[in-house]
Amino acid sequence: MGAGLYRRTLLTITNNKLVEHLSIRYGRKLASKFIAGDDLEEAMNRTEELNGQGIMVTLDHLGEGIRDLKEAEGYRDEYLKIVREIAKRKVNANVSLKPTQFGLSLDKEQCHANIRAVVSEAKYSRIFVRLDMEDTPYTQATIDLVRKLHAGWMTNVGTVIQAYLHRSEEDVKALSKEKVNLRLVKGAYKEPPEVAYQSAGQVLNNFKKLIAHRLSNGLYTAVASHDDKVINFTKEFAAANNISKDAFEFQMLYGLRMGKQAELAQEGYRVRCYVPYGTMWYPYYTRRLAEKPANLMLVLKNVLK
Ligand code: FDA
Repeated sequence: MGAGLYRRTLLTITNNKLVEHLSIRYGRKLASKFIAGDDLEEAMNRTEELNGQGIMVTLDHLGEGIRDLKEAEGYRDEYLKIVREIAKRKVNANVSLKPTQFGLSLDKEQCHANIRAVVSEAKYSRIFVRLDMEDTPYTQATIDLVRKLHAGWMTNVGTVIQAYLHRSEEDVKALSKEKVNLRLVKGAYKEPPEVAYQSAGQVLNNFKKLIAHRLSNGLYTAVASHDDKVINFTKEFAAANNISKDAFEFQMLYGLRMGKQAELAQEGYRVRCYVPYGTMWYPYYTRRLAEKPANLMLVLKNVLK
């Protein structure tokens, strides 16, 4: 099965309610490969271990697509706790959050207020906050939110641009002018051909174009990918253009290519591991399975152990 078909098939299957029910009943052990723990204490312990290997962390409290604003307030409070714990334990970490977890699909103003509370608390301790990018109904609203926070001097906030979207080149150019810190990724959701490139080659080419634009304009960028083609391009582009290793960072997900993460850190690159924790792991975990048949094998091996 081709990579694109595999991804689309799995993303369709995992939207199925029965599959969701079975996975939640039996899947926690399967997901543990990609999830750092159920609570903040476990996630902080993983963070200290990673820091010990020279790897920075971004902490993610799992959750998305909430049903009411009370839930959003719960997530806001958990993120406030994360920020305070990072400051207290003096770990090298920042945070990543999903705007829908903070109420974006329910009430934009309330979502803004919830995120602002976290960014404001984080700013006080010089901690960076990344708004993850979700599917296209939320792209513009997420960018608007970041702009609004930046305009209010909250420059410790940034977002993510997905190389599979046709609009991303324009978004990168505009946000770069405003000096917004960006994470570049391929994109993890199922998007139609009207808005997104469908072939791996097109996505890779666009990814390289975005990386080149950011680095040649001296803008701090997180290159988030497990793909050697992306990693090697970034290294070679930086070396050829005398761009310092401090001008960007590589990011990878917890549980994936941990050896490569340590190797890059040893070579003197800045490396950050995306560390998710919490009990709402299902959507995050199924996106990881959909990305690569090898991730599914990894999970099955874990169960058979
Ligand atoms: P991909 O999975 O396409 O793999 C391509 C090639 O890389 C493989 O064929 C293989 O050669 C190599 N490779 C990959 N995994 C390997 C492994 N384990 N071992 C050896 N080789 C391997 N998405 C989104 O839409 N919004 C977001 O906010 C984020 N945030 C985010 C943060 C971070 C830190 C990361 C790493 C990723 C995201 N993503 C994301 C997910 C992203 O969009 C994308 O879906 C995944 O990273 C998968 O794409 P990759 O570029 O990693 O390579």
